[in-house]
Amino acid sequence: MDCSGIDPAKLSIQSDRASRFLARRLVSRYLREYATCEADPLCPELKAYNTRFFSEFWKICVEYGHREPPYWSIVWPGGRALARFVLDQPQNFKGHKILDLGCGNGLASLALCRVGGVVTAVDVSIAALLLLRRRAREYGYPIDCVPANFLNWPDELFRGFDLVIMGDLFYEEPLAKRATAILKFLSREGIAHYASDALRLYRPQKDVRTVVSYSTPVFPEIESVKERTVQIIQMVQET
Ligand SMILES: C[S@@+](CC[C@H](N)C(=O)[O-])C[C@H]1O[C@@H](n2cnc3c(N)ncnc32)[C@H](O)[C@@H]1O
Repeated sequence: MDCSGIDPAKLSIQSDRASRFLARRLVSRYLREYATCEADPLCPELKAYNTRFFSEFWKICVEYGHREPPYWSIVWPGGRALARFVLDQPQNFKGHKILDLGCGNGLASLALCRVGGVVTAVDVSIAALLLLRRRAREYGYPIDCVPANFLNWPDELFRGFDLVIMGDLFYEEPLAKRATAILKFLSREGIAHYASDALRLYRPQKDVRTVVSYSTPVFPEIESVKERTVQIIQMVQET
């Protein structure tokens, strides 16, 4: 990956062998006992793994040393809407170098691969990337999976990409603040970007352009509703 002279390896998480081993075992257990694989309701072109037992599975994750909620164990509405957006206009993504920040379960990354994007998927969760790599292999898609915490990434790194996408990252304040700052940088630099806004608490509301909205099926046990409106947004120049 050409990142303007910055070595992405230095920005990746230095995972030790023991934590990789545990993450592999956790993903195997997820696939064996908790996950179902079905055509995605908004993107039936792709199959997705999800668990209907998010809270129970989270408790299992803690046993494997993973205290964070297992966000990667389901497709979030933002990722689902982004995947639909990509599949609807393949010509805008084919052949481009694309970064999926906080890829999670990876439906949007898989959609990008399907339409011929050259994809780098980043997540802080090694389990997420193990699952995505496995899925990409099943489909025969090449993908670069980078375990990293992008909160501290220098902005220059983003210049190495034609396009950056972010699915459902406005749910936590520090994460949302950094994601918004990155979007502003991309806008200033003229780098293409799309973020999905599932109307979460910390979403950016100023200098935002809505490209399209989707009524997106969600898991009622997690979102307390059956559908959510998700907007695909871009940041415009600050006013
Ligand atoms: C709500 S999930 C969204 C996943 C996916 N984009 C989707 O829409 O289905 C948020 C994802 O961001 C990842 N994440 C959170 N903070 C991060 C950070 N600082 N660096 C990299 N990934 C992060 C989480 O591990 C999780 O997979």
